Amino acid sequence: MDESNESMITRREMIAGTTAAVAALAFTNLTGVQAAPHTVPLSLAKVSFTVNGASHNLEMDTRTTLLDVLREHLQFTGTKKGCDHGQCGACTVLVNNQRINSCLSLALQHQGDTITTIEGIGTPKELHPMQAAFIKHDGYQCGYCTPGQICSAVAVLNEIKAGIPSHVSADLLENPKETNIELRERMSGNICRCGAYSNIAEAMSEVAGTI
Ligand code: FES
Ligand code: FES
Repeated sequence: MDESNESMITRREMIAGTTAAVAALAFTNLTGVQAAPHTVPLSLAKVSFTVNGASHNLEMDTRTTLLDVLREHLQFTGTKKGCDHGQCGACTVLVNNQRINSCLSLALQHQGDTITTIEGIGTPKELHPMQAAFIKHDGYQCGYCTPGQICSAVAVLNEIKAGIPSHVSADLLENPKETNIELRERMSGNICRCGAYSNIAEAMSEVAGTI
């Protein structure tokens, strides 16, 4: 190691050490108590489920969310982490064909479940009709929300077909239709900061056969 590298590392170490010391001092000054060392014991458990047609047997920290297992343990990084608080829909996946926010669900809750992520909806060579429609109608801009939007969109059309009413359904006893207002209401949990909403609704309408 040359002298300049040595002095760079020394400076970095000094900055890191100083930052930690200042943070600890600030905490002590604010609360009057010394920060306790992190002593929460690790609790591991086993879970088995199927993701995109392949079964997985995993052992993990009991606090791990389904989103983190999909992205970090199984490398299905198509599922995105936006807010990590159930507010954006970027992490939407299908569990037993129903959509959920995977950031709000512990992996251990899914023993025996069948999970589908965007990677299981279609492939670049064999697109799902919803994926093809998103491309045709420019249903994405940056694309960050798109995997969640597409998983949700597929589930929304299934919900309507199954006759499940929404907040805007005029008659709870009649089968809902794939109207623009139904699609928008049901997709309202999926946020797109680029504002591709009208194109997404067009893509969904095409797949639903209403345009
Ligand atoms: S990351 Fe799950 S809802 Fe935003
Ligand atoms: S396309 Fe960018 S957030 Fe939706």
